[in-house]
Amino acid sequence: MSNVESAAIESGLHENRVFPPDAALGARLGGAAIGTLEAYRAEHARSIADPSGYWGEVARSFDWFTPWTSVLEWNLPDAKWFVGGTTNVCHNCVDRQVANGHGGEVAIIWEGEPMPGGVAEVRRFTYADLQRETARFANVLKAQGVKKGDVVTIYMGMVPELAIAVLACARIGAPHSVIFGGFSSSAIVDRVVDARSRVIVTCDGAWRRGSVVPLKANVDAACAELVGGASAIEHVIVVRRCGNDIAWTEGRDRWWHEAAAEAADACPCEPMDSEDMLFLLYTSGSTGKPKGIMHTTGGYMVYTGHTSRVVFNLVPERDHVYWCTADVGWITGHSYILYGILPNRVPSIMYEGAPNHPGPDRFWDIVARHKVTHFYTAPTAIRAFMKWGAEHPQRHDLSSLLVLGTVGEPINPEAWMWYHREIGGERCPVVDTWWQTETGGHMITPLPAATPTVPGSCTLPFFGVDAAIVNEAGEELPANRGGLLAIRGPWPGMLRGIHGDRARFVETYWSRLPGMYLAGDSARRDERGYFWIMGRIDDVINVSGHRLGTMEVESALVSHPSVVEAAVVGMPHEIKGTGIAAFCTLEPHFTPSDELIESLRAHVGAEIGAIAKPDRIRFTDALPKTRSGKIMRRLLRAIACGDESSTQDTTTLEDFSVLAKLRETDES
Ligand code: WTA
Repeated sequence: MSNVESAAIESGLHENRVFPPDAALGARLGGAAIGTLEAYRAEHARSIADPSGYWGEVARSFDWFTPWTSVLEWNLPDAKWFVGGTTNVCHNCVDRQVANGHGGEVAIIWEGEPMPGGVAEVRRFTYADLQRETARFANVLKAQGVKKGDVVTIYMGMVPELAIAVLACARIGAPHSVIFGGFSSSAIVDRVVDARSRVIVTCDGAWRRGSVVPLKANVDAACAELVGGASAIEHVIVVRRCGNDIAWTEGRDRWWHEAAAEAADACPCEPMDSEDMLFLLYTSGSTGKPKGIMHTTGGYMVYTGHTSRVVFNLVPERDHVYWCTADVGWITGHSYILYGILPNRVPSIMYEGAPNHPGPDRFWDIVARHKVTHFYTAPTAIRAFMKWGAEHPQRHDLSSLLVLGTVGEPINPEAWMWYHREIGGERCPVVDTWWQTETGGHMITPLPAATPTVPGSCTLPFFGVDAAIVNEAGEELPANRGGLLAIRGPWPGMLRGIHGDRARFVETYWSRLPGMYLAGDSARRDERGYFWIMGRIDDVINVSGHRLGTMEVESALVSHPSVVEAAVVGMPHEIKGTGIAAFCTLEPHFTPSDELIESLRAHVGAEIGAIAKPDRIRFTDALPKTRSGKIMRRLLRAIACGDESSTQDTTTLEDFSVLAKLRETDES
């Protein structure tokens, strides 16, 4: 790709349904953060023209121990925000609320997975509770020799102690590295070695659809592998959650409850430099080795707190109850269960279990019981809800809902419409938030009371974000031409690097486009200026010289009444160079047939154009997905290419049997 013409990605999906913001929503929310599109545009223009002025003003609404001397120092690709300032993120999430007289208000509502006797186990933590518990656990960590700057590894289920452990690390300035509880022991080994971490916080087990995930056993296996190597785990702190049998290593292992009982319940918040590391979070890249994305203190705190307030329109004392269904093991859980929400003084729900346990209506039962006002989930979940049927949400009173959100992958317009209709009762705006582990917080998103929404579009850039669609030379493309999504200039929540790999940081994000951040997504911007994410760059397929975003073909397939979920990848094709292979899951009352394949091809042809017709369509019971719900296109590509002996890393696969089955039924 070297010029505008060849960098263009064919874009054939056109969506014309526009949902203007409801004029009465601001009042229902207790005041709109941004009330009109004009107000958004004016503030966005101001934030781009004067980032230091804008972010300095925002940052002043947080507590700082010492003020910064300059808002921003920018030497591409290195940004320093709130230079010279010191603060503590745990202080701003917790202690500050207590100091301001809100210690008795609920900060976290935790709901467990098991329902003993059909009754939900619910625990409420006030800011005062969190202050006491984070201080106590901070003292436990200190007693194990953890000092400011030491990385603490956290590998737990969605128990309240996970939130407490994360905040306790922030309290003493020990960066945390949270590893999603669904990962295997080899993922723990890689991350512990990379972070040179000596302490792991874990649980005996985690509940998952009624069975126990053996977290402690996985930690034991990782520790055994690490023995004798350059890194070794010296301390393992274990929360008792499931009561499953576990092995015990004297001198290394300690029960959380015993250690905490001995610890004092006061511990000051460590003053942290604005650019001190807050956490490391590993994310998979296009290569096998996970990248340790580094986030720092001041910029991340300000960015996640501010985006939470504005994008979800959180208002304290208006009985808002916010629920993000992500796991704290992912960036969405870091930023939008904990760090961004707590400073806004709105209770945040943390749910331990699966969406369909004990029944497919579990989420809607939670929404109704807790009178959830803000609900934030992923498209993959929404498509599952569609498959399970609208009768499940219909059985519950969802009238408390005010704002719906989605994140993680492009949401196909059909799923958007279902979400809007069946969950939002056609009265809640849907904020489709585009962002990444690397960006820390929301980057392109509607604002609920201001932005007209269009199903499938994440709409407009957040304040301070100068987003553009460019070609490989960094030249901006005209409306509706697909290209590379880039961010011009720094923002406070941006990653500060990849741990231990400066070269990869520069190479991945900052070297391909002159002076810009390369997000790695392809996208287009329509004539309204709205952004449409088309997929990852490596998910773009070139068919007869036309580049197609896989997501567009998938959306077209899913808009056919028979298809629930679809994944599209490139495959070698004699004539076209690359052909399109589609993997589809069907609605239960449809059966695979040659006629159905033909009608799907015709449907895609009608929706996008003949060029997008899949060359092969395969039906499957389920698609292989990562634990976070992303379809593993890399594996599907290998299958579509006939690479049966694929030795690719599969540690993030949700269900190995899905992959095995796809291989078995591959008739070619
Ligand atoms: C994709 C998750 C379309 C995108 C917060 C991005 C999205 C990657 C959206 C980051 C969205 C996330 N619409 N695509 N609203 N949100 N993505 O690091 O490809 O797990 O680059 O962060 O997810 O995934 P990550």
